[in-house]
Amino acid sequence: MGFSKDFFWGGATASNQYEGGVFEGGAGLSTADVMTNGAHKVPRQVTYRMPDGSWGKTPLCFHSPERHLPEGAQACLVDDPDIYYPSHIASDFYHHYKEDIRLCAEEGFNCLRFSLKWSRIFPNGDDAEPNQAGIDYYRDVFKTCKEYGIEPLVTLDHYENPLSLANRFNGWDSRYLVDQFVKYATTCFEAFDGLVTYYLTFNEINCIEFAPFVTAGLIHADPQNIANATFHQFLASAKTVIAAHNYWPDLCIGMMLAAGPVYAYTCDPNDQLAALKANDSKYFYSDVQMLGFYPPYKLAEYEREGIKLPILPGDLEILEEGTCDFLSFSLYGSSVLTTHDEDLEAGEGNGGGVGMVANPYLKTNAWGWATDPQTQRITLNELYNRYHCDLWCVESGIGWNDEFVDGTVHDDYRIDYMRANIKSMKDAVELDGIPLMGYLYWGCVDMVSNGEGEMKKRYGQIYVDADDYGQGTMKRYLKDSYHWYKKVIESNGEDLD
Ligand code: BG6
Repeated sequence: MGFSKDFFWGGATASNQYEGGVFEGGAGLSTADVMTNGAHKVPRQVTYRMPDGSWGKTPLCFHSPERHLPEGAQACLVDDPDIYYPSHIASDFYHHYKEDIRLCAEEGFNCLRFSLKWSRIFPNGDDAEPNQAGIDYYRDVFKTCKEYGIEPLVTLDHYENPLSLANRFNGWDSRYLVDQFVKYATTCFEAFDGLVTYYLTFNEINCIEFAPFVTAGLIHADPQNIANATFHQFLASAKTVIAAHNYWPDLCIGMMLAAGPVYAYTCDPNDQLAALKANDSKYFYSDVQMLGFYPPYKLAEYEREGIKLPILPGDLEILEEGTCDFLSFSLYGSSVLTTHDEDLEAGEGNGGGVGMVANPYLKTNAWGWATDPQTQRITLNELYNRYHCDLWCVESGIGWNDEFVDGTVHDDYRIDYMRANIKSMKDAVELDGIPLMGYLYWGCVDMVSNGEGEMKKRYGQIYVDADDYGQGTMKRYLKDSYHWYKKVIESNGEDLD
């Protein structure tokens, strides 16, 4: 027994890292479009303007203690030679989609994951009518996929929200966004009817805790704002699922979790408990979206912290009815947690969270991300045993500063990473009997990294000739991993040599 005959093999992308064309086809700006580039340990920044016309920038993006724009500031573009916004050009998929889809088809893909730029369809997020040019563009992308026998998987909200909604409403803090999102989602269901069957509502919904601006457009993000935004996203997702079930019954709507086991550093029960709690704080999001209710451990935490949920009559019933049809997840590695100060000094850690230390059994890349050969099997077991639902790995990959020589890249490190992941997934399917819908490799075509906003952290099997500032021919080249993955797909995951 191996992977199912209709297993989805392919790759995953996100519009703000890949698409570019930000000023084309009548699109409005998104929150990602006002994020500058950064580098390893150099945070990306959000640019803003004050009512008096002066401008500034602040590292509101990831793992930042900074959670607020100055009072009265509006996040916006600023015209300054030292400011660069990577999403504006990205990998220029906007002008290369036919070529990219063809190359992916030739690699054997039967699935490609995209995200939509909400503000390409509703430039301000809440316009009365959608932008037809945006719809036409995405329709052509999906039609091209279909011509090549590729099933699109579409994320409605992947780390960008209409900028106008962030500035006017503090993003998802406001309940106003719930119905605007449902309108956007159902507009897509109608416009892409017959072309798209699989959707995800929110990418890595659990990352709101360390990236509230990026995931939810919060320009003010105290714990109460984060709890509100989370609640509103749950509600929007549930209403979207209910609408799909009622009016587009052939659609399948998934949730998307940033997965990755947290291991305890030692067998000290305190370390064990800390790891269990860290895992729960991630599974809280899938508990709500797959089981349909707030788990007691989270309600108790909110009560301790004095947080009140903005629940209106009928909301809890909506959450219960609107559970997702499948659980998709991203998975890059694992992390290790300790409660011992002396262990904290042992390493810088993988993931950089509080109490995280390096795993002495694993190797990391230049950005400190560890390759864990058991991570898929462990994660799939944890998820299946908790939810007993269909699972789909929609992101997994490794970033590397590839060396481009003679028109290609010899990326055996990427092949090793993929081999280990696919083997671990296969073990979960064959040895543990877990149903798995597919495997989509993250960043199959090189694109701007999310965390750093730089091109040099490349994930792709297809090389894009562009540097960290969008300079280059944008020509595409095939790496060694392209040919290796093609062979894996042809053998439905049997040939991993
Ligand atoms: C996931 C995101 O967290 O990780 C992607 O969904 C992101 O958008 C990917 O690109 C890899 O992270 P990074 O920071 O290396 O691009």
